[in-house]
Amino acid sequence: MGPLRHAYLDALGIDRWVPRNAPPEVAPQGVETQSVAPESVAPESLTQASQPAQPALAKHANPRPAPLEPSTWTPLPPVADWGVLRERVAGCMACDLCKTRTQTVFGVGNQQAEWLVIGEAPGAEEDRQGEPFVGRAGQLLNAMLLAIGLPRETVFIANILKCRPPANRDPKPEEVSKCLPYLSNQIALLKPRIMLAVGRIAAQNLLATDAPLARLRGKLHHFGEANTPLVITYHPAYLLRTPSDKRKAWEDLKFARATYSRITGGGAA
Ligand code: URA
Repeated sequence: MGPLRHAYLDALGIDRWVPRNAPPEVAPQGVETQSVAPESVAPESLTQASQPAQPALAKHANPRPAPLEPSTWTPLPPVADWGVLRERVAGCMACDLCKTRTQTVFGVGNQQAEWLVIGEAPGAEEDRQGEPFVGRAGQLLNAMLLAIGLPRETVFIANILKCRPPANRDPKPEEVSKCLPYLSNQIALLKPRIMLAVGRIAAQNLLATDAPLARLRGKLHHFGEANTPLVITYHPAYLLRTPSDKRKAWEDLKFARATYSRITGGGAA
């Protein structure tokens, strides 16, 4: 294991076995070792996925649109253009979250990315900045990705929900069912080679199961019509609260990386 990998493991806060009389190590230049402080995040609870439905195309701009009455909310077919999809998401009024959001959080990253990382929903900072995983959990996610050789800008990052649930509560099933078609459309456009779901909410909704995360991680799943390989790991916010599980997250990340190498014949990310 090289010094670069050591620095990444340190950034994740994972202890390494070092021989008793080993000389002290120096972190390689240019490698940022992030330290992340614990944060308090509401405990994740169960959410059962509903059948995805198509979102409505809304022309009204933020701020504070009124949500459509369920009777006037009509499904739309997926689109073949990232810009059109982004506009749709920005104007979405399919559920009550449009009343409390600052802005929608579409997703960020390389539209040619082979890796798609999927989280739960924007938090306060993401709602402010309009970008997923920019808070402390995002810093840890960046370190996790870097640990397997993936700088943040080389992947695409999206969430199950495009709007922040008030007080960071869990997504409601009706919110998920109205929002999932946007993610499905993103997946159809991106055509990722592999997906990494972080946290129970993302995992359960993608797999339409209420199985606990412990039963979902550590094995290879597949998603959608394209049968895209899907690996599950812990949410970085959970890892900030429970650093003792970082070792297991590291195993998941190595598993994801090995799966990617296998399906691409060892190719680069
Ligand atoms: N947690 C998530 O699941 N997604 C974000 O974008 C930020 C925090």
